Amino acid sequence: MPRILMTGAAGGIGTSLRKLLPPTYPDLVLSDLAAPADLGKNETFKAADLADLAQVEAICAGVDGILHFGGYSVEGPWEPILQANIIGGYNLFEAARKQGVKRVIFASSNHAVGFYPRHHRIGTDVTPRPVLPFDPAHVSLEARLKGLCKAACFPVLALAKDMGLPAPDIDQDEAIGRADAIALIDEVFGHMFPGLHAG
Ligand SMILES: NC(=O)c1ccc[n+]([C@@H]2O[C@H](COP(=O)([O-])OP(=O)(O)OC[C@H]3O[C@@H](n4cnc5c(N)ncnc54)[C@H](O)[C@@H]3O)[C@@H](O)[C@H]2O)c1
Repeated sequence: MPRILMTGAAGGIGTSLRKLLPPTYPDLVLSDLAAPADLGKNETFKAADLADLAQVEAICAGVDGILHFGGYSVEGPWEPILQANIIGGYNLFEAARKQGVKRVIFASSNHAVGFYPRHHRIGTDVTPRPVLPFDPAHVSLEARLKGLCKAACFPVLALAKDMGLPAPDIDQDEAIGRADAIALIDEVFGHMFPGLHAG
């Protein structure tokens, strides 16, 4: 059974999705700076600061796939964004590469792109236009992941826009709702482990 690591498990997306995953992924390892307030007795939690490489390597041990939701998720001062998102993301993907993690799903952001009109259809080769301090973090992580993907280290799915939040909290026309988020996760990890959904 694949071991899946979820970073940012105590945050908005982690809290919304983590209770829905165990039927398919019983070996789910949750991580964050501190445990979720509603952590269940059957859930596995390992605290780690993404900015600390040794702690990140420890949570990646034996992991097959990663759901990366951890980091500073709103606009704010540069230093915590640098530590949690840029250094933290680098640490996580480097630990994943070294330890042979097979697939990574990263909750990126529309902030990685920025300032394209809504009617303009963009592709994966779109030129990033980061503006605010929070934006370059997602741009740099997407760039690093594209490189790792091309180097055949692990396939990556980078998602943006209100992923997996409860329906009342999101713009239904633009968001990836909870059911769609779970379907995407199953699609990515299901290919990694044929037979995962056989039961
Ligand atoms: N919520 C959305 O709809 C949405 C939309 C687009 C992108 N995203 C991206 O998805 C990710 C998660 O979003 P969210 O809404 O769940 O955010 P959130 O702020 O609710 O959760 C982020 C979690 O990361 C943890 N964290 C922060 N710094 C850390 C560190 N140094 N080490 C370990 N953990 C740390 C926090 O404790 C928190 O629990 C963010 O990168 C965000 O930019 C979210």
